[in-house]
Amino acid sequence: MTQHDRLLIIDFGSQVTQLIARRLRELNVYCEIHPYQKVTDTFLEEFAPKAIIFSGGPDSVMREGSPRPPKRAYEMGVPILGICYGQQVMMHDLGGKVEAGEHATAEFGRAWVTPADGPRPDFLAGWFMDGSGREQVWMSHGDHVSEIAPGFQVLGTSPGAPFAITADLERRFYAVQFHPEVHHTPHGKTLYENFIRDAGFTGDWTMASYRDEAIRLIREQVGDKKVICGLSGGVDSSVAAVLIHEAIGDQLTCVFVDHGLLRLNEAEEVVTMFRDHYNIPLIHADESELFLGELDGVSDPEEKRKTIGRLFIDVFQKYASEIEGAEFLAQGTLYPDVIESVSFSGGPSVTIKSHHNVGGLPEKMGLKLVEPLRELFKDEVRALGHELGLPASFIGRHPFPGPGLAIRCPGEITREKLEILRKADAVYIDQIRKHGLYDEIWQAFVAILPVRTVGVMGDGRTYDYACALRAVTSVDGMTADYYPFSHDFLGETATRIINEVRGINRVTYDVTSKPPGTIEWE
Ligand code: XMP
Repeated sequence: MTQHDRLLIIDFGSQVTQLIARRLRELNVYCEIHPYQKVTDTFLEEFAPKAIIFSGGPDSVMREGSPRPPKRAYEMGVPILGICYGQQVMMHDLGGKVEAGEHATAEFGRAWVTPADGPRPDFLAGWFMDGSGREQVWMSHGDHVSEIAPGFQVLGTSPGAPFAITADLERRFYAVQFHPEVHHTPHGKTLYENFIRDAGFTGDWTMASYRDEAIRLIREQVGDKKVICGLSGGVDSSVAAVLIHEAIGDQLTCVFVDHGLLRLNEAEEVVTMFRDHYNIPLIHADESELFLGELDGVSDPEEKRKTIGRLFIDVFQKYASEIEGAEFLAQGTLYPDVIESVSFSGGPSVTIKSHHNVGGLPEKMGLKLVEPLRELFKDEVRALGHELGLPASFIGRHPFPGPGLAIRCPGEITREKLEILRKADAVYIDQIRKHGLYDEIWQAFVAILPVRTVGVMGDGRTYDYACALRAVTSVDGMTADYYPFSHDFLGETATRIINEVRGINRVTYDVTSKPPGTIEWE
């Protein structure tokens, strides 16, 4: 068990509970999320939290059998923060009233909270400071509190939630109707900061501690069994592999499937780094013939993705079955992969693109999953990679999609086009690095277009491919803006590509943001 101060998040099923953990990690607070069903009196005693947070959730406290924390939570003498459903639960349990959405003003999305009259407690430190006298918050509730519990007072209200912020200052119980953990509550983090300060946390939790804890958990989960890890060469699977290797050494074998759709020199770089530098047992599965053969004549984006996904599973399975006694499959799944793969509304979500990397592999192979990065966001994975001593140049690499260059080659994929694309991409990235722009950009790449255009070079006519340059800024890949390169940069890059890459005679720049565009072209 760790010696850090511990905060317990009781999860009532909100889609954004992990974001609470994220905000707390940013404040160097150690926390664990546990589903409400698991949190019993005994659990609470053993966990010994220094503070507790009740998450939001989709249920209604008026429904019989709806989720509750154990009564003991209120009796431990530790501060509690209730969020959304967590607020309603707290009010309901402590003698207040909650009303159903039909009689209330349901609120979804942006709302504005104003402070109640009277002295402002420390919980509101840093709020309502910008002259407007109000704070933007993000609401998502049908039911609302209609009467606060005895001992509580109102600290803030919004048009649809007269009890937007409430507190029992004596017992240090705080409850808010909105979600302070999401970006749309711009100063939400301040409330967490105030809450944990009140609870006496010293902020002693760091990425180094995360690493130690993750290693402990991996050892506990895996025991003396063997683990297989699919290595893509991307940051996520690489960090997962190095972390797991630190935890269990040669019980780990990595399988690197080379589908022939990687960038220039990428396969060699990955193999050298992991096999030679890290000494991690690595199978280099060069299956480019198979993949490119099956993709021959395929031009539909979803068919490409599905073909690659299917072959990937087959190939992976073939190599993995050679590793005797493997019981676990490691994946570099990140938190956004987890939230993106469930629908926010609880209803069926629309498939924009089939991602092949969080597929049905484990079930098919009868393997259990090890996902040590499941709670982390991209920037946290990078920080962890840094902690593990991965080279900075590697950690800072732009994301690269599982289907690789296949989805940057609209229309039919040919070896000739892939060769041209690799060279053009290398020149483009070189340009970006030379101009010191690489780290400002979330992702940059070239797409080779399925059209040839006429040009003139020297005294001759050319009839070659056109390509599009793409560069975007983004926080998480879910939304993105195109990068505003200077015209000088674009002009110089176009000239270099046309001069250095045979097969391209025209360069365009893609100025579409996401939405409406996606980052990749397919
Ligand atoms: P889109 O194109 O959907 O991409 O805006 C968002 C981010 O996800 C990456 N991407 C993928 N990553 N497997 C992956 O591992 C995939 O199938 C896949 N498709 C898109 C994309 O590069 C961008 O960073």
